[in-house]
Amino acid sequence: MPLEITPLNAPLGARVRGTRLKGDINPNHFQIIQQALLDHHLLLFPDQDITEAEQVGFSGLFGKLEIHPSKEHRSSVQQEIYRVSNVNEDGQIFSVDSYKAKYLTGTRIWHTDSSFRAIPSLGSLLRAAEVPPEGGETYFCNLHTAYEALPRHLKALVDTHCAVHSYDYIQTLVFGEKAHSFEQHEDLVQEHPMTRSHPVTGRTALYVSPHTISEIVGLSAEESRPILEEIYEFATQNRFVYEHRWTQNDVIMWDNRCTMHSVGSYDSARYRRVMLRATVSGDSPVHR
Ligand code: OGA
Ligand code: MN
Repeated sequence: MPLEITPLNAPLGARVRGTRLKGDINPNHFQIIQQALLDHHLLLFPDQDITEAEQVGFSGLFGKLEIHPSKEHRSSVQQEIYRVSNVNEDGQIFSVDSYKAKYLTGTRIWHTDSSFRAIPSLGSLLRAAEVPPEGGETYFCNLHTAYEALPRHLKALVDTHCAVHSYDYIQTLVFGEKAHSFEQHEDLVQEHPMTRSHPVTGRTALYVSPHTISEIVGLSAEESRPILEEIYEFATQNRFVYEHRWTQNDVIMWDNRCTMHSVGSYDSARYRRVMLRATVSGDSPVHR
């Protein structure tokens, strides 16, 4: 079957047909997919009725896979799979005021994955196992084109500043306080430059993650807030964003080094939404 790559009519992304994702994928297909990810920053693979082991096998070709700090969100089948889901593994929808349901609302805030780590994620591969009949779209933003279009005063700032990313900040946004500590105690607070050079293409991207940035280094949290809001508002304009309406068995891989994403709301008390994510570890963000 020939591999077919079709750019989406959107600010980022391409659709890939003609292959099944698995660890022993045709190496020639893998090479083309790797290049397509660099060219389009997001790849949509429809009709991937694959197992968690196949998803982990394919994802692992891109690099080491992360294990999510929250044990209760890991799949019991494959610990590398992080369940972004309002449904327990036993099939029950969480109660809307449970810890896990509230935690999930964090995905509605724009972010790039694992920016609270010293080595954030290269890319994430998300498979739609169950999708709600309405709502629950995912929005993806192109941080290369957003950077390139930034007004001069913001560009000057992001080119010369770092921001503090912290895992606790997500919890503060979601719960109003630090609600949970995790068994995995690596350092989950990091300073990263606000722009980064893509390690493979060299192209500059804005590097911000609204759900983990508490402040800009050198400014107080209060001074940082209006500047951060201005950057976020600019970067998430429709002209930089692709909205994806999920179909069951879609897999999307995105490049966390030059995109961010957020999830649209849906009736989570009524509809099931089960998304399974494998997360590839990347490298330390640097701006050359
Ligand atoms: C993620 C995430 C996206 C979604 O998997 O990293 O933020 O569509 N979720 O559930
Ligand atoms: Mn995410």
